[in-house]
Amino acid sequence: MDHFLYRDGALHAEDVPVADIATAVGTPFYVYSCATLTRHYRLFDEGLGDLPHLVCYAVKANSNQAVLAHLAGLGAGMDVVSGGEYLRARAAGVPGEKIVFSGVGKTLDEMRLALEGGVRQVNLESEPEMAALSGLATAMGVEVPVTVRVNPDVDARTHEKIATGKKENKFGIPISRARDVYAQAAALPGLRVVGIDMHIGSQLVELEPFEQAYRLLADLTRQLRADGHEIARLDLGGGLGIPYEGSNAAPPLPTDYCDIVRRVLGDLDVEIEIEPGRLIAGNAGILVSRVIYLKSGEGRDFLILDSAMNDLIRPAMYGAWHDIVPVIAPQAGAEMQPYDIVGPVCESGDTFARGRMMPAVAAGDLVAFRSAGAYGAVMSSEYNTRPLIPEILVKGDQFAVIRARPTFDEIINRDTIPEWV
Ligand code: LLP
Repeated sequence: MDHFLYRDGALHAEDVPVADIATAVGTPFYVYSCATLTRHYRLFDEGLGDLPHLVCYAVKANSNQAVLAHLAGLGAGMDVVSGGEYLRARAAGVPGEKIVFSGVGKTLDEMRLALEGGVRQVNLESEPEMAALSGLATAMGVEVPVTVRVNPDVDARTHEKIATGKKENKFGIPISRARDVYAQAAALPGLRVVGIDMHIGSQLVELEPFEQAYRLLADLTRQLRADGHEIARLDLGGGLGIPYEGSNAAPPLPTDYCDIVRRVLGDLDVEIEIEPGRLIAGNAGILVSRVIYLKSGEGRDFLILDSAMNDLIRPAMYGAWHDIVPVIAPQAGAEMQPYDIVGPVCESGDTFARGRMMPAVAAGDLVAFRSAGAYGAVMSSEYNTRPLIPEILVKGDQFAVIRARPTFDEIINRDTIPEWV
């Protein structure tokens, strides 16, 4: 459920007509809904209920300061995967004790930021990384809480580029070596083992792979405890999918996911951490764009938008589907026709959809890409020197620009020409 609905024939973001935002800031732009973010955060927080838990929002999904500050205000912890994300979370008011630091290649400089600013735990992904953090913590005279990310070799049944829990993926250490690696971690100075971490992939549309992975995690918890390790926390990663395609696809509900956590891990006397990104932010955002031209091709009509693959790369990168809807609701029973929906970037990969059925659209019309709140703005670039597009946050009947569109001068002046050119 989200808060982007038609009212009186016009798409609204909560109580704000989307067309009003377009008039105020120009197109294209992203718009996010506070009410939707809140709702999705609470689904997890309440779903885990009386189990000791912390919902650590995966900052990578949408790292705008206002989005982070809103979630921090609800009590969310954060999962970060770079020094930059760590600093973003801190700048948005998240205390170090609520920040989990994940990622397969954390540099010493990044880890130092976290140790200086405070961190709930560092999720380690390899022996060399363990040794590096141990050396750093010892030199700084601190002890850092750690988990080891374990790769359970479970098929998440999602797009191959976003599956992370199979042995051929670069993530974590193989579960078969977990006991050995935990023994090494426990022996290293400066590290304090506090739990186990796992994350098997993103946009999972079935619960079964989670259940399979969490059963292995429960067994491993018992095993490691028997080996003498303190396993007080289990970080279960993120990954729960969202519906991208209208009502055709219905991924599992967060409440059903939480029931599995409860059933499989609930009696282990551990604190549960989860790291949802997409489920919190995905349907809390849309991308609004204007049709520049309608162009007749050979046997097809191209809808050329003012947004492009640099603004939303998911269709080009993963073949992802986003519902694309007119901002002014079509007449009931309006005839549908197929469009190839493309952007102005100079490559054929800049295609959002082929043969997409839509009511008739004309040049100048506004359209909205649904489910664009996660992995949209954060993955955008200035390819073709197209400025990063503004981000807007809506709460009730108020809206604010939370990231302004840069000017061309700002973009160009970031470069320098050496004297000797
Ligand atoms: N925790 C870790 C360690 C992760 O690597 C990820 C996502 C998450 C949590 C959050 O997963 P979520 O709940 O959002 O599924 N750019 C891709 C998605 C990449 C996800 C990478 N890791 C996309 O646009 O589909």
